Amino acid sequence: MAMDLTSWLETLAAQAPGELVTVRRPVEPAAFESAAVVDALESQKRYPAVLFEQVRDLEGRPTDCRILNNTFGTFRKIALALGLDTGQRMPLIERMLELSGKSLEPVRVALPEAPVRHWVWQGEDIDLTRLPLIRHTELDGGPYFTPIVVSRSPQGRYNVSWNRMQYLDPTHLAIYMSPRHLSAYFAEAEAAGRDLPIAVVLGHHPAFHLTGALLTPLDADEYAVAGGVMGEPLGLIPSLSFGEELLVPSEAELVLEGRILAGKRCVEGPFGEFTGYAGPQRLSWVVEISAVYGRQRPTIIDIFPCYSEHINAHLPIEASIYQRAKQAAPGVIKTCWVGSGGPFNLIISLKKKTEGEPMRAALAAISASNFIKHVIVVDDDVDPEDLAQVMWALSSRVQADQDLSILRNLQGQVLDPSLRHEIKTSGMVIDATRPLDRPFPRRGEVPEQLRQNLNLDDYLEG
Ligand SMILES: Cc1cc2nc3c(=O)[nH]c(=O)nc-3n(C[C@H](O)[C@H](O)[C@H](O)COP(=O)(O)O)c2cc1C
Repeated sequence: MAMDLTSWLETLAAQAPGELVTVRRPVEPAAFESAAVVDALESQKRYPAVLFEQVRDLEGRPTDCRILNNTFGTFRKIALALGLDTGQRMPLIERMLELSGKSLEPVRVALPEAPVRHWVWQGEDIDLTRLPLIRHTELDGGPYFTPIVVSRSPQGRYNVSWNRMQYLDPTHLAIYMSPRHLSAYFAEAEAAGRDLPIAVVLGHHPAFHLTGALLTPLDADEYAVAGGVMGEPLGLIPSLSFGEELLVPSEAELVLEGRILAGKRCVEGPFGEFTGYAGPQRLSWVVEISAVYGRQRPTIIDIFPCYSEHINAHLPIEASIYQRAKQAAPGVIKTCWVGSGGPFNLIISLKKKTEGEPMRAALAAISASNFIKHVIVVDDDVDPEDLAQVMWALSSRVQADQDLSILRNLQGQVLDPSLRHEIKTSGMVIDATRPLDRPFPRRGEVPEQLRQNLNLDDYLEG
């Protein structure tokens, strides 16, 4: 069976039925209704994938589309997308690294066999108001999609990235691009007076979407990397608007083709962001849509941007950060970014052999990604996922005048509301590890042998 969203939903229903709920009554995503359901679940600390079977379009009319939320709501669902069954962070990170290192060249699929070409809108038929765009937070500047955008460098490398898009009019969307690969490709095209062709993928196997958040180097083609992550080569067909110049995934649910227009800008936002805040309105870029096509009943993967599914979907970035930290300091045991109490904090645990290693690991993590500005390094007896343990290490192993290092002039995340400058940020490293160069008390514990071997039931019977 092809790796597509249907196959993943079937895996989920079979292996983790509690991880999927279906909403059958009609909902209006543009009137915050699907977001409100995710919000209500999250307020009860419930994160099942939610499949909205009947969703209305921008004008409140019924559509043939479905919307899926919380695809990345739990680690277990992400694991099932990567062929594992675990809810644990480190096996998942190791798996992500293993798969993303295995490129599989894409394969061509014959057009009649491409499910994504079941129906097509071109020319006058294109009307984005007939699609179920989504409003999530109160201040959102309009209804949005949270899709995967496929682009191609002049040298032929495919890039897959996650970029939110806001509805502007029936044939135009705004796109937000932070300064990464996609924006660099566009800048190059624009400097040459050209538009940049893109394909907007609104749903595919979750492993394809996760590829969009990998920090893939420029010498690796992201269609091939997506094949590795999916465990099967990606099927491709020519695009309707650009032919062989831009190939698109044949097993996608719904695809919009278009061009990011050279020399055009528009006002985009506000947009509720992964920071938990309404991000500001900004000048963004304009995409003109030239074709829309999809499956018979396409399912759109939506990410509720302020909520758990958005933070969890960054796990591939966390994997890259862990990898860089471990390369710099092999004693690194575990990292915890997602879930460490905020999108810009990272906690690293380390089996320290020499002084200076914590700083080395922290700087490697900070240089790996502009998402990280605060790093706390703890010893290997402290679990970075347990914030109570981390706070205990902070309270008992840190002297602020010696163990706190302030970093200036880092490249920050433009969505960080605390920035005073447009993009520059300060950062800090807290070394909460025990010193090796002077005596330090041991933990107060019962002898190790008893801790390992004691069977509590022997003492509590009756
Ligand atoms: C759910 C999710 C949504 C994202 N939305 C955006 C976005 O709207 N704009 C953006 O520039 N980056 C966004 N990102 C981050 C990028 O997709 C990600 O960092 C990617 O690696 C950038 O790829 P590129 O360097 O290939 O352009 C998002 C990431 C995730 C996980």
